Amino acid sequence: MSSQQVGTDVSRAVLVLRAGGVVGLPTETVYGLGADATNPEAVERVFRIKGRPANHPLIVHVADVDHARQWSKNWTAEAELLAEAFWPGPLTLILERAPHVIDQVTGGRDTVAIRCPSHPLMHRVLVELAGGIAAPSANRFGKVSPTTAQHVVEDLGLDVDYVLDGGPCDIGVESTIVDCTCEPPQVLRPGGISEAQIAEVLGHVAHASGPSRAPGMLVSHYAPNCRVHTVESRQQAEDEIAALTGPTADQPTHDDSVRADVQPMSVMILDASVDPDGFASTMYAQLRDCDRKGVRDVIVVLPPDIGIGSAIRDRILKASFRQ
Ligand code: TXA
Ligand code: MG
Repeated sequence: MSSQQVGTDVSRAVLVLRAGGVVGLPTETVYGLGADATNPEAVERVFRIKGRPANHPLIVHVADVDHARQWSKNWTAEAELLAEAFWPGPLTLILERAPHVIDQVTGGRDTVAIRCPSHPLMHRVLVELAGGIAAPSANRFGKVSPTTAQHVVEDLGLDVDYVLDGGPCDIGVESTIVDCTCEPPQVLRPGGISEAQIAEVLGHVAHASGPSRAPGMLVSHYAPNCRVHTVESRQQAEDEIAALTGPTADQPTHDDSVRADVQPMSVMILDASVDPDGFASTMYAQLRDCDRKGVRDVIVVLPPDIGIGSAIRDRILKASFRQ
């Protein structure tokens, strides 16, 4: 991709979307691969570029609640409360779909996922477009999500018509998904807004139970090339290293040094337990760094299962899954 295809030109992004093109777009969670949500060919191209199965539905991104109502059939009282509390922000709501929403977006389901992101450039695109943008994360299917414009270029390059560079994502993990079509609403995917925050607004909320109700949330996902191991404490990480490296192998490298250009290393520790919010914002970039540096095994010290920690655990456990 030429450098001309990466930039900060909001109007250009809107023009490309209107013309049926596909644009890498910054959000506060991860970068999205966006298309006009009313254009079937453009949406189909997103699936082709990602290599994503057609029955994994996309999130429709909107500028505000008024637009959200246009994409859903019955905007519920609970959706209203959640949107009031957390939009614009890292929360996706599942609602019954409005009749005009195309099957390419919903995977043929009778529900639609809607989110109003807070990133200022993305917000300007949505306001100028005055429509909906269907966008999954801008990575190849099953791989690590992108949190910079550079990641999008590395992953998708020439397949994308333009990448809007909004800098590194603040939050770094995908939005929380809440299904508002059931009573009480259910959290289908943990993310930037915690279950406790949602329960505080609604008074009640349920964990999704049974087989995943958000198609595409597979056991293995967000996977780097390196092997990811998970532990619950620093001590367990040290034990794991001993098991992996043995007495003669390379010494492990610790968090900060991953950025230094040093010898290829075989084992790394990433400690997510000390500052989970800070870790989340660079989590995918760190996994990408590990791959770039040829790290073979990454040991992640998981954070407690609260707040953003729940989202980190979810993503890292999926990244660690091996057949
Ligand atoms: O933070 C985010 O949500 C990012 C940014 C770009 O907005 N997007 C994102 O999209 O993570 P994606 O496609 O990687 O994940 C969307 C998830 C998928 O697991 C999909 O199955 C679920 O949302 N989803 C979409 N529509 C749904 C529906 N109607 N019912 C249940 N799950 C749905
Ligand atoms: Mg994704």
